[in-house]
Amino acid sequence: MLHISIVSFIVVLLMSLSATAEESDSAPQINSPPLISPLLPPAEANAWLLPAVDYPAANPYSKNKQELGRSLFFDPRLSGNPSKTCATCHHPGLGWADGMARAMANQQGLGRHTPSLLNTAYEHAFFWDGRAASLEDAVNQDLLSPGMLSGETARNIVIRIAAISAYRQAFNEAFASEGVSFERITAALATFVRSIISAPSPFDHWLKGDTEAISASAKRGFALFRGKAECIRCHSGPAFTDSSFHNTGINTVDPGHYEISGKDEDRNAFKTPGLRDIAITPPYMHNGSKKTLNDVIDFYNRGGDTIGSGNQLKALHLSAEEKKDLLAFLYSLSGENRETLVPALPVALLP
Ligand code: HEC
Ligand code: HEC
Repeated sequence: MLHISIVSFIVVLLMSLSATAEESDSAPQINSPPLISPLLPPAEANAWLLPAVDYPAANPYSKNKQELGRSLFFDPRLSGNPSKTCATCHHPGLGWADGMARAMANQQGLGRHTPSLLNTAYEHAFFWDGRAASLEDAVNQDLLSPGMLSGETARNIVIRIAAISAYRQAFNEAFASEGVSFERITAALATFVRSIISAPSPFDHWLKGDTEAISASAKRGFALFRGKAECIRCHSGPAFTDSSFHNTGINTVDPGHYEISGKDEDRNAFKTPGLRDIAITPPYMHNGSKKTLNDVIDFYNRGGDTIGSGNQLKALHLSAEEKKDLLAFLYSLSGENRETLVPALPVALLP
């Protein structure tokens, strides 16, 4: 793991997340326009393809803002701790997660597993418990939380970044007026996070009409996913999440969404994670309690770990063959872990 992180930090990997955005300031197109699939009714096939990202009116896309966000994401001066950046936990080489069961901060394990940032652009609720309603709000909380980035005041973060003249200039260019502010730091980071999108997977190629792109087993797995295994009840839509909260019978003391809603039915309910690129982001679940996708499938097959107490699942009674098919389908949702540009950071020149 150490090897991977050193390699991906030191080697400056190119291939930006979008080629179109290099030339223009319009938001990048994610997928080429869908072809008419011969495999599913066209409307149904298109419904599984990731659409272009919707950037909110309050924080519109610009290439400069995205690139400023990229610098901040990889810059330890944001945290004031030389060994900590957003990428420490959301590492691009590890599917924008950290590969650990639970996040580490200040030599302490945090309560929850670090979610991948892939495709958060398509979500409507953030964090495992849904305590943030927008990506800007989520980034804001990550920035200030002692467990995550810094635990510092917004004011101190702004002072440190504004002291770097190249950053002052980058903010002016990204926001078309002078000034470094905490809102702008958050806005730039959120714009960068919105650009972190899965590469097209074999499943997408199949949807677009390449009949050989996924195996017969994966095709049967897709049918199970929508049918007997009922995964689609919660993992729906192009990012394979309903952005909603469910108690799936994970053995946990974490109150989950209950802490936010105060409703009994939300006890131990967590946000449904997306499933694109799922093969590259083990371990799984809010507490990292499932090491492999096989463990996850076994978990669903027995209807969860805790029976009763609000668990929304039931046992599936899948055969060994059906479990293999479901696994093949989950693998078909993983494209290559797209390479990303780790930027040269603005240099603090002496006045
Ligand atoms: C110490 C590890 C750590 C660092 C550093 C960190 N995060 Fe996180 N991040 C987490 C964990 C853990 C969660 C889930 C917390 C929860 O659900 O309660 C999370 C959740 C998120 C989410 C919500 C994702 C979702 O799908 O709901 C976003 C967005 C995010 N982080 C962005 C950032 C950004 C931007 C930075 C840098 C400013 C950052 N994170 C720094 C560990 C970290
Ligand atoms: C009732 C809603 C629901 C159903 C049905 C459901 N899931 Fe989930 N899934 C969730 C929730 C919620 C989580 C997160 C639970 C947690 O972290 O404790 C999750 C987590 C996962 C994860 C781990 C993702 C990660 O990043 O940690 C995988 C993989 C997964 N589900 C696959 C499936 C498959 C395959 C099926 C069908 C057999 C299925 N799910 C059925 C709601 C559901």
